[in-house]
Amino acid sequence: MAAPKELTSSTLSVTVHPTNPMTTTISTVSLPESLASNDVLIKVEAAASNPKDWSHLVATGASINSGDDLAGVVLAIGPDVTRFKPGDQVAAFHPMGKPYGAYAEYAIAPEHTTLHIPDTLSFEEASTIPLVSLTAALTLFRRQGFTSPWELDAQEKNQNTPLVVYAATTSLGAYAVKLAKLSGIGPIIAIGGGSCESLRGHLNKPEDVFIDYRTGMEKVKHDIKQLAEERQ
Ligand SMILES: NC(=O)c1ccc[n+]([C@@H]2O[C@H](COP(=O)([O-])OP(=O)(O)OC[C@H]3O[C@@H](n4cnc5c(N)ncnc54)[C@H](OP(=O)(O)O)[C@@H]3O)[C@@H](O)[C@H]2O)c1
Repeated sequence: MAAPKELTSSTLSVTVHPTNPMTTTISTVSLPESLASNDVLIKVEAAASNPKDWSHLVATGASINSGDDLAGVVLAIGPDVTRFKPGDQVAAFHPMGKPYGAYAEYAIAPEHTTLHIPDTLSFEEASTIPLVSLTAALTLFRRQGFTSPWELDAQEKNQNTPLVVYAATTSLGAYAVKLAKLSGIGPIIAIGGGSCESLRGHLNKPEDVFIDYRTGMEKVKHDIKQLAEERQ
């Protein structure tokens, strides 16, 4: 599609600075005259934050619009985009370090990291999905080599494969547990803390077990070892 110029040619954008304490500035940034072939221009309704939004900046000393998780409405699409059209409600992962990030009125994300969202999900809820779900999926299905839930034989291939998820009550850990359950991986030993109530609903007793890290690392190690011995 041609340049989104008739809709908007610039965006207010937030730059995050790695100062201590962290500071931000807002400026007007020109949008590209035409979109790259697979890019989607999105009017941002909600942006979510992740630890890397500040930690990468502190590590590199860079000042950028570091927001990468967003949800909003498609405004325009690149010429090769097939899965989206203007007006669609979407969530998207903006590629880290690139221009036109999530802390802005308008952001640009590639088609392959953009997803449709249902009416039942708010923009705020949807904006929390992209990076954390991608990270959990890469960890389980790329790095650990489990069969992903969108492969037909996942349940069969993953069954009886125990998985320890440390920090299961973080956003990332909770997604790892949910994706593991969808894929038939288990039993699961989930180690978490105070935010355990929402996670408990995803664990099947008695095979899955929750261990509270606040009891101390020695107790956590003891409980895992005991479980492993009991279930040999
Ligand atoms: N979010 C992402 O997309 C993403 C992507 C890549 C990497 N990561 C990395 O994954 C880690 C978690 O990030 P997140 O965004 O998921 O964090 P988060 O949702 O903000 O998690 C915070 C929770 O961590 C738990 N926690 C704190 N200290 C802990 C400890 N010593 N042992 C176990 N759990 C502890 C606490 O849970 P309770 O309140 O239940 O005690 C706390 O509420 C970070 O190191 C982050 O850099 C995150």
